[in-house]
Amino acid sequence: MTYNAVLCGCGAMAKGWLRALQATPQMQEAVRVVGLVDLDRATAEALAAEFNIRNAVIGTDLDVVLTETKPDILFDVVIPVARHSVVKTGLAYGCHVLSEKPMATSMEEAEYLRRAAKDAGRVHAVVQNRRFISGVRRMCRLVESGVIGQVTGIHCDFFLGPHFGGFREQMDNVLLLDMAIHTFDAARFVSGKSPLSVYCVETNPVGSWYAHGAAANAIFRFADDVVFTYRGSWCAEGERTSWESAWRIVGSKGMLTWDGEETFKAAVAGTEPGLLHGFTPVDVPPPYNDEETHGHTSVISDFLDAIRTGREPETVSHDNIKSLAMVLGAIESAKSGQPVDIAA
Ligand SMILES: NC(=O)c1ccc[n+]([C@@H]2O[C@H](COP(=O)([O-])OP(=O)(O)OC[C@H]3O[C@@H](n4cnc5c(N)ncnc54)[C@H](O)[C@@H]3O)[C@@H](O)[C@H]2O)c1
Repeated sequence: MTYNAVLCGCGAMAKGWLRALQATPQMQEAVRVVGLVDLDRATAEALAAEFNIRNAVIGTDLDVVLTETKPDILFDVVIPVARHSVVKTGLAYGCHVLSEKPMATSMEEAEYLRRAAKDAGRVHAVVQNRRFISGVRRMCRLVESGVIGQVTGIHCDFFLGPHFGGFREQMDNVLLLDMAIHTFDAARFVSGKSPLSVYCVETNPVGSWYAHGAAANAIFRFADDVVFTYRGSWCAEGERTSWESAWRIVGSKGMLTWDGEETFKAAVAGTEPGLLHGFTPVDVPPPYNDEETHGHTSVISDFLDAIRTGREPETVSHDNIKSLAMVLGAIESAKSGQPVDIAA
């Protein structure tokens, strides 16, 4: 079965989507791009030329392109503030919709879209590509095995200094809204616990080249007394952490650390007498399923399989909204200076 898709938003990230869609013969077979939409026609035309997409309708008005092409799927790769109207339009046309993160810029908008997808009976999912990677799947597998006991704490550090230019340098709450959602979502996934509340201090540090919110420090309470802490900055020059964050997971029997790249260390208590018992290393096994470790390709495959089979995709909007609630709760806490309840 080949699905027809319109891709809306033909900027930098759209290239990643098209690379994913052209990554394997199966994916090329599964999706035909029949339309490209961007506010800037030349951007859409350049994308079509770069990826050799012939016979697609190219336009600047989503309604017009959807009317002309009648696709099964809308791929939404626009900037966050444009997301609500694009997804709403796609669902109204009867499309299944896969959106880039974040799902929305407010809980009201997210709730609206979740309900609209339910009412339309269409699959609505969000790209959280950074949970579809080997390292996150390996952490999950180790936690699930129970070898480090029950998770009691997850602690993530994210310190980089990227100079993007473009919309990120102008937007509010840039780190929380545009990036931290990946780590928040992965922490929720790895712990398997629901987020309950958050306290956050957000700053735009001296020397920042962003307009607002390039750094954030947040403490989350998850269910069952699990604590998740996040310390992050997008204007931290010097030796950086991984884009996936540097992780420490504390369990009742042992700990796991991951540098966000190739290095995992897991250990349980050792047998030395005295103050500190030392530690006994344990193996961190590979992911259960290699298919789930290819970022955008894996997210898109999961979305297509959900349409085909009627099951829910892993990042279905009514679940992903909990990751968005973590981000928006952190923003609200930073504004009020108070902890914010985010229990679903
Ligand atoms: N998952 C990831 O790892 C990842 C990485 C980068 C960006 N993103 C997300 O991808 C999205 C796009 O980011 P980007 O870096 O490609 O931005 P970008 O600015 O490079 O591209 C966005 C494009 O959308 C177009 N656009 C804006 N509003 C539109 C509308 N209403 N209709 C049609 N086109 C419209 C713009 O003209 C632009 O060409 C954002 O939500 C961003 O957070 C995700």
